Amino acid sequence: MRALIAGNWKMNGTSASARALAEAVAGKLKGAVGPLPEVALCPPGPLVPIVGWVIRDGAVALGAQDCHPKEKGAHTGDTSAWLLKDVGCKYVIVGHSERRADHGETDALVQSKAAAAQSAGLIPIVCVGETEAERDRGETAAIIKRQVEGSLPPGATAENTVIAYEPVWAIGTGRTPTVPEIAEVHRQIRALFEQRHGGGSLRILYGGSVKGSNAAQVLAAEGVNGALVGGASLDAVDFWKIIEGCPVG
Ligand code: PGA
Repeated sequence: MRALIAGNWKMNGTSASARALAEAVAGKLKGAVGPLPEVALCPPGPLVPIVGWVIRDGAVALGAQDCHPKEKGAHTGDTSAWLLKDVGCKYVIVGHSERRADHGETDALVQSKAAAAQSAGLIPIVCVGETEAERDRGETAAIIKRQVEGSLPPGATAENTVIAYEPVWAIGTGRTPTVPEIAEVHRQIRALFEQRHGGGSLRILYGGSVKGSNAAQVLAAEGVNGALVGGASLDAVDFWKIIEGCPVG
């Protein structure tokens, strides 16, 4: 399976900076030789079509950071998965821990968003991960089981779904789990997925303080098929180091 490096820009950027960043990433990809992972950019909503225009030749995939479970209607401020598909998205992040925390998103809501994404023809990047307190209490496996089982729609397959393991305490902190800790959770997620949804080439990304300096090590962990990158994806040079450091297969 081809690994995926997805840049989650979060609530950062302007039309000008987004254009420049997308151009830099697309330009590096164009000039690269040898096999590379798939690359996706997930800008904030209003910047999605702007970035989509810059990367319109398709070498870089377009993604969004959230969607509503419904196709259309009276949902002020929300964006449907179908609209994201219409403006060129391939991926949409759902259930990011910042949305779970800031907007009280439950596993059930995340599941309905992921189902909407799949119905619209998008691939949801479904995020799961424990807090520091949960890890300290030895609850990591229980939290991951609850989130994976609760957040994935019954129709999830290895082809229409990506899962991102993002320990909440590693996001934006500069701290990461050890390689064996990452591998252990990825193993658990894959086993949980296969029990309910069957086998196949499911991509499970790691996310949380991935940078150019640690990418090669973190991404070589067993069962890791790419990364969801926040802060470092805002810097084309550092983001490129992550892309280059990612084992492709
Ligand atoms: P970070 O964020 O790379 O800045 O830690 C990752 C994420 O939240 O997706």
